[in-house]
Amino acid sequence: MALPLGIFLGGSVTAIPVVTGVAEGVSHQKKQNEEAANQTRMIKFNMLISCDSDDELADEVDNGILVLRHDKAWIVPRDKTNKPIPPVQNIQPPLHAFAGFYIQYPDDNRNPPERGLVSTISDDPPMLNWIYIDRRTFEAKYGNRTASIEHIVGEWDWTEDESGVILDGWEGFVAVDEGDGEGTAWGAEGLRWALYFDANDDGLKGKRKKGQKMFEVVLERRLQSEEEQLKQMQEAEKKMQVKSAGDLKTQFTAPAAERKRNVWGRKD
Ligand SMILES: *[C@@H]1O[C@H](CO)[C@@H](O)[C@H](O)[C@H]1NC(C)=O
Ligand SMILES: *[C@@H]1O[C@H](CO)[C@@H](O)[C@H](O)[C@H]1NC(C)=O
Repeated sequence: MALPLGIFLGGSVTAIPVVTGVAEGVSHQKKQNEEAANQTRMIKFNMLISCDSDDELADEVDNGILVLRHDKAWIVPRDKTNKPIPPVQNIQPPLHAFAGFYIQYPDDNRNPPERGLVSTISDDPPMLNWIYIDRRTFEAKYGNRTASIEHIVGEWDWTEDESGVILDGWEGFVAVDEGDGEGTAWGAEGLRWALYFDANDDGLKGKRKKGQKMFEVVLERRLQSEEEQLKQMQEAEKKMQVKSAGDLKTQFTAPAAERKRNVWGRKD
């Protein structure tokens, strides 16, 4: 009997058979479960933020949502439909909420391989970046492989009930006040609360200015509905078709060459 494994094929994941022969026993079932886990690892989610602190400033991060901007991850309030509420009007481009999933980080020098985390950084074009923690500053950032490879890129995981995000085995995430109190941390955009990872579990000792506010936060996974995912995939596919059609035109000079040959042929 062939092993019914889920295979990642051209962007779509095949269904995982649930039934397994009794004789094949536990180890096959285990393999299947691992594969199933891999599939669920690729379900896209947003990150909702909660914060337990009694400090009144903590209200600015509690019930927030993670957004990606200026190469960093920020916490802003969210509305009832879980969309980010920009700190100021008419932010351009609009704030982009983290929307990502787990996938192995491609680096032969990481042994065993580490599970990374990717997110779209814009919808148009639909681009994915790695989410990583800067080794020097412990800020949460995003970037391509070149930008991230020297930093902490994993192991990203979820909590036992799969509801929360963890890194390196624990939920060491904190929001750090990078505002000046007037809400002008990043020009006129009003971004204030940056996400950090307390990698040494010492309250970001040496990484944070004296008196700079910091709150422990929980990153809650909010799974996107199948409908949302399908819509996004279709949109991405449409865009890719347009793109590759454009590329074909510029790359393939063969038809023109053939035309020339035909012309020559006729002339001869
Ligand atoms: C995911 O799949 C890969 C390749 O089949 C496998 O090596 C890895 O152990 C799986 N990971 C999980 C968490 O199931
Ligand atoms: C990766 O990101 C860096 C900036 O962090 C940029 O300079 C570089 O061009 C990017 N590489 C690719 C292949 O896009």
